[in-house]
Amino acid sequence: MISTSNKVIISPSLLAADFANLQKDCEMLNASEADWFHIDVMDGVFVPNISFGMPVLEAIQRHAQKTLDVHLMIVQPERYLENFKKLGAEIITVHYEACPHLHRTIQQIKSLGCKAGVALNPHTPINVLEDILHDIDLVLIMSVNPGFGGQKFIEYTFEKVKKLRKMIDNQGLQTVIEIDGGVTNKNAKQLVDAGANALVAGSFVFASENPILTIQELKAI
Ligand code: DX5
Ligand code: ZN
Repeated sequence: MISTSNKVIISPSLLAADFANLQKDCEMLNASEADWFHIDVMDGVFVPNISFGMPVLEAIQRHAQKTLDVHLMIVQPERYLENFKKLGAEIITVHYEACPHLHRTIQQIKSLGCKAGVALNPHTPINVLEDILHDIDLVLIMSVNPGFGGQKFIEYTFEKVKKLRKMIDNQGLQTVIEIDGGVTNKNAKQLVDAGANALVAGSFVFASENPILTIQELKAI
């Protein structure tokens, strides 16, 4: 189980960081009220973009002092789970759409001692997870189509969060609901009210004038 307090978990996405100065951005997050570091790995196959892979994560790990929340937007993620574990991943999230044997993949993540997350694309209904929800530590609801930062939030997400919250509560589970894509101070409160426990924010944090204050503002909702 992932421990959550009453306060929402804030997981800034390093995809929007300054890649020429990752150490500085990692230190900023260490000093901030951010809870996790969100790490977006893209392979150019599952999503139409390539972000970064193991060597960059290794560099981040050297400076990050918080939980590494690794979001794998790659096909056949089971091939690399052990690598990500070795690079310090505490939460490993794979896409439902990329895993024909999702139950097995979840067990593999857990056998490495990591928390297992499953991400759903905007078109994927949450009820596909109903039968295995008790095996999952975190469900990541994509509120944009994965692949790029800085996209517009899809409003239907609120409905999905409410449905998932009901499903989790009905089963008496502690599964974390994480929202990823287009999160700002305009939709954060509504997401938490709908039942979300964790918010990823990339461009809203890193493009702001004072990221530390922006994180504080999100954390305070
Ligand atoms: C999108 C990634 C997100 C992205 C969010 O595929 O999964 O984590 O970095 O960026 P913003 O917050 O800018 O939408
Ligand atoms: Zn992400």
